[in-house]
Amino acid sequence: MNDSLQGKTAVVTGGASGVGRCLCEVFAREGMNVVMADIEAPALEASAAGLRALGLNVTGVRADVTSPESMAALEAASREAYGNVHILCNNAGVGIKEAQRRMWTLTPNDWNWGFNVNVMGVANGLRAFVPNMLAHGEAGHVVNTSSGNGGLNSMPTTPIYAATKAAVTSMSEVLHYQFLMEGAALQAHVLFPGPHVVNTNILSSMRNRPKDLRDDDEPVAYTTMADLIKASGLKDMPLTEPEEVAETCLQGILAGKFWILPASESNDAQVRTRTDSILARANPALPG
Ligand SMILES: NC(=O)c1ccc[n+]([C@@H]2O[C@H](COP(=O)([O-])OP(=O)(O)OC[C@H]3O[C@@H](n4cnc5c(N)ncnc54)[C@H](O)[C@@H]3O)[C@@H](O)[C@H]2O)c1
Repeated sequence: MNDSLQGKTAVVTGGASGVGRCLCEVFAREGMNVVMADIEAPALEASAAGLRALGLNVTGVRADVTSPESMAALEAASREAYGNVHILCNNAGVGIKEAQRRMWTLTPNDWNWGFNVNVMGVANGLRAFVPNMLAHGEAGHVVNTSSGNGGLNSMPTTPIYAATKAAVTSMSEVLHYQFLMEGAALQAHVLFPGPHVVNTNILSSMRNRPKDLRDDDEPVAYTTMADLIKASGLKDMPLTEPEEVAETCLQGILAGKFWILPASESNDAQVRTRTDSILARANPALPG
């Protein structure tokens, strides 16, 4: 347990499931008060009840990161429950059902949903929380969840997701610079869950897609990464568990690291290949 976090307050969006749920657990185990925020009320209630049953201090608040009003209400509810907020994790994110589709066939609804949650969700989180986090003057952290896909290199199969995560990395870098320019007691971090695909519910993100941004009612093919791997016969494909991501994130926060990027030779090689191609003004090769 780390003294610097004990008794402080963390807010995690997308806190009902996957990486977010595990972030809530590691923060609460550090003795923090944790506000779990999510759009999916039944999952949120179940996850919050599960953590409370372990004796952890958590409160579930339903919130939609795409709505500035909902995020303002989340900020007010967090302060009412626990006082000042010290860690904000802008973690809620969705995978758009776009795999193998060409970019020019994706619809305005696809683009809007992806950008509303993955990009505007971060912007709305910053707008709602950072002013009071700056005003109270205590040390704090803002962690934005990006992805190696787009946040570092763009995979050719997921155009919208990659574009949103490129935006999240860029927004996080600017946030870091602006906290320095302000002389703020706040530190920005960008989290890259991994090093492998993380065993969460992101493949069934369609469960939270608003009706007015749907083009069809196609059933969700897979519910978990483990199901996908089993179904595709990729039995040896490595998976990272979300508990490991949350622990890496906690250690990154405690160590004051902006880039919370797990060690991975193959990811590093991809980043080097991309950077080399830019500096050589050479056309990128199709990733293998
Ligand atoms: N799973 C991976 O391999 C992987 C890899 C890199 C990055 N990420 C990122 O990690 C983050 C967490 O995703 P996950 O993999 O744990 O998936 P997940 O589906 O298990 O969890 C995402 C959570 O976000 C919530 N959410 C969706 N829309 C929301 C909205 N409008 N408002 C509030 N909450 C909303 C969902 O209800 C869910 O609880 C995302 O930003 C994702 O892009 C995941």
